[in-house]
Amino acid sequence: MSDIYKFLFLGDIFGKTGREVIKEHLNEIKKQNNIDLTIANVENLAHGAGINKKGFKEVIDAGVDIGTSGNHHFQRKDVYKLIEDGIPNLLMPANYPEGVPGNRFGIFKVRDIEVLIINLHGQVLINQNFSNPFKTLERILRKFCDFNGPILVDFHAEATSEKRAMSLYFDGKITGLFGTHTHIQTADNRILPKGTAYITDLGMCGPYDSVIGITLDSVIDNFLYSLPSKFEPATSQPSIQGVILEYSAKDKAVNSIERVLKIY
Ligand SMILES: [Fe+2]
Ligand SMILES: [Fe+2]
Repeated sequence: MSDIYKFLFLGDIFGKTGREVIKEHLNEIKKQNNIDLTIANVENLAHGAGINKKGFKEVIDAGVDIGTSGNHHFQRKDVYKLIEDGIPNLLMPANYPEGVPGNRFGIFKVRDIEVLIINLHGQVLINQNFSNPFKTLERILRKFCDFNGPILVDFHAEATSEKRAMSLYFDGKITGLFGTHTHIQTADNRILPKGTAYITDLGMCGPYDSVIGITLDSVIDNFLYSLPSKFEPATSQPSIQGVILEYSAKDKAVNSIERVLKIY
């Protein structure tokens, strides 16, 4: 069997439009690209914010293997049911304060290898109490110093600077660092000098024609008049965005990181 592995890492699946586009098109993308493992950020599954059991099942049934998350992880109580069920393939940022229940990383078997997936949250421009993501990742890597397979990290963060610093600081120590949270795909996918694959933001699986997932109408009063608004998920131009990572198990190295940007 080939020693080449292909990982599809998708940006935040946003609301019904995101779930539907995944149901309709994920399989063809996986087939066309011989994908071995699909990871998607799922923090916006339920009406644009939070995770519900039904929505999670929908995207898993549609071909997502592992869900990562972010600041919206606990927005819906339903997520506690998934945590109580002991589902191994839903991760949350590892630097949530101690005592918060949930999986902070996971090891997943893919054909002949194991893959370590870690989810982290940024601290810059984020109004939540996450501990230091750099120190958290150092701690996790120390714990898995004998781990032999690829290590993939979803870094859910607002600031480009924090994502860049994280990627360069851990270059060569992890296999890939993929930014999420802004919902806008960046064009800086590349392999860093010491071999780590990187992109500042994967983008989003959801309505491309929107304000990071929601309608302009439902948010504009906020910008024009500083008035609160009730965000409504948009529906037009469903898109799938992320990257495909090609990894050689023989060389223990990334061959390529290519962007996926499909607008339907
Ligand atoms: Fe998001
Ligand atoms: Fe987020």
